[in-house]
Amino acid sequence: MSADEQKKKAAMRAVEMVEPGMRIGLGTGSTAACFVKLLGERVKAGLSVICVATSEATRQLAEERGITVSTLDETPEIDITFDGADEIDGEVRMIKGGGGALLREKIVAMASDRVVIMADTGKVVETLGAFKLPVEVVPFGLTATIDMIEALVSDIGCEGDIILRKGANGETFVTDNGNYIIDCDFKRIDEPEELDDALKFVPGVVESGLFLDICDIAVIGEDDGVRIMEAQRDDDIEGV
Ligand code: 5RP
Repeated sequence: MSADEQKKKAAMRAVEMVEPGMRIGLGTGSTAACFVKLLGERVKAGLSVICVATSEATRQLAEERGITVSTLDETPEIDITFDGADEIDGEVRMIKGGGGALLREKIVAMASDRVVIMADTGKVVETLGAFKLPVEVVPFGLTATIDMIEALVSDIGCEGDIILRKGANGETFVTDNGNYIIDCDFKRIDEPEELDDALKFVPGVVESGLFLDICDIAVIGEDDGVRIMEAQRDDDIEGV
């Protein structure tokens, strides 16, 4: 079974979690697009929901499919968000941002009661970092920002090329927020929490593609069904 078929399987299982009247966050990328199309079919069949999109591309697709799209300002509390991921480890920590939408994805996820991630089996890894970590940065002072990142992350054992992302047209990729993305080729990230803290210390960094303690459930499409990975969130632990 191809990765695309596994993504569709995960999205089919995820769309069953949608209930009438829900306020839904819509992720970005090919798996999230599968979900949007399936949700569109349910909306056509009479389901009433309000959605908030994590990118202009997703907003456009959702509207084309007849889904009501609100803004996060009009609908600041989301019941459940459905999104994809680039890598997921055993603790359901993730790398996201391959599609360049990580900032809005994280804002919408953090405004959500529950976050469901849908993915193919190829996204599940033992250690994060083989996928280049996307980091959204402001264009001003880009070289100084990269220099500071390199200095800080080498202290915690992360080294590797940091590459300014280009779009399909060869021009610098610009996010929906007018920022740039740098892709950090660290190969393996042994301490994601420490790395995330270090990245956020850099003033030019807007947000990192490390999604830690954010996902509640990952739905993994496999050849013979779907596997559910449930996160042990801090708020699940008694006394925390
Ligand atoms: C976009 C993302 C996507 O969720 C991630 O890149 C996965 O994409 P796909 O579903 O196409 O494999 O984080 O910013």
